[in-house]
Amino acid sequence: MSSISLHFEKVYGRSPDICASAPGRVNLIGEHIDFSEGFVLPFAINDCTDVAIAKTNENVIKIASVQRGSEVISVAISDISPDRTGDWERYVLGVIWALGIETGLEIFIDGKVPVGAGLSSSAALEASVATALNSLFFLGHDLPALALLCQKAENDYVGMPCGIMDQSVSLMAEKGSALLLDCRDLTTKNISFNVASHGLELLIIDTQIHHELVDGGYAERRASCDSVVAKLNITSMRHLSIDQLLSQKSEITETEFNRAHHAVTEIQRVLDAVIALEKSDFKELGKLINASHESLRDDYTVSCPELDCAVDASLAAGALGARMVGGGFGGSAIALIKAENVESTKLAIQNAFESKSYKAPRFFTSLPSQGARIH
Ligand code: GLA
Repeated sequence: MSSISLHFEKVYGRSPDICASAPGRVNLIGEHIDFSEGFVLPFAINDCTDVAIAKTNENVIKIASVQRGSEVISVAISDISPDRTGDWERYVLGVIWALGIETGLEIFIDGKVPVGAGLSSSAALEASVATALNSLFFLGHDLPALALLCQKAENDYVGMPCGIMDQSVSLMAEKGSALLLDCRDLTTKNISFNVASHGLELLIIDTQIHHELVDGGYAERRASCDSVVAKLNITSMRHLSIDQLLSQKSEITETEFNRAHHAVTEIQRVLDAVIALEKSDFKELGKLINASHESLRDDYTVSCPELDCAVDASLAAGALGARMVGGGFGGSAIALIKAENVESTKLAIQNAFESKSYKAPRFFTSLPSQGARIH
């Protein structure tokens, strides 16, 4: 029996009806453009959130987790509403709400994606619960529909105006590939991402600075992009070229210009990164990764000193490319490095952090892994 079933049994005294898992993600390139109908190129990491669920005849949702010492949170179904305050269980309740489930449930969660590290632990939680409920109630949603429902839970129930990237990759990723996602229509293409066979490694550096995206920085950036779209009378950043942006510069504020400049150039970088990957041109991929970081740091201003330090130290230690990933304001960076340089790069980053009296970073590596599954 899987360990999530055993945990469930310990708390609820019987077996679950269904178990599912969904992974966190790292984004190779394509940051802050999923809500602008852009392209993104994330992959799923090994770390997953596991969930076990059983139906009950009570009108109550019970939720417990390994991380909260198995304390059981009970919420009457009639109390499930975006207005209900709460903690992490809001992500679970949001999915139940978005899927329109009105049956009593017992739920047990083991969230193994590091929280606050910019690796999308929240999307992993949403996607695992949504995958289990979709199957348990024979809802028949396909993966894009399920991703949109998870996004609805996060946007409208939790109150975080995220795009569609994290939920999509957590649900749709394939082992061995990065997922090229067209955020306009949620069509995908698997792009083989096998750095190991080229003697490379993708190092994930968690700065241990924990951001709270609900706190405004993310929403403010998104609002700037929406404002550009309205002022320039376009459907989305996807429809904006650099030439048009430059010629209409006077119609938007300087900040809006910088945000739009990031979006337009980042969409192009994703397409260029796909070409580089298809040619196994990792030097070129590294350059694009670096340009993405510079754009996020200078035009979009979502980096922070710790992320810049991780990137600069990686590059000084010989990385082909390095950049912040995810929403920013803390969380993780990635560095594309030669496999033989893993230890020396880690040491260089550790030393750089120590010299600035930053909290010690944590390091991960992960091969591109499988998206959500029932087990
Ligand atoms: C967060 C959001 C995503 C995306 C990234 C930035 O992870 O949840 O939708 O916007 O930030 O690329």
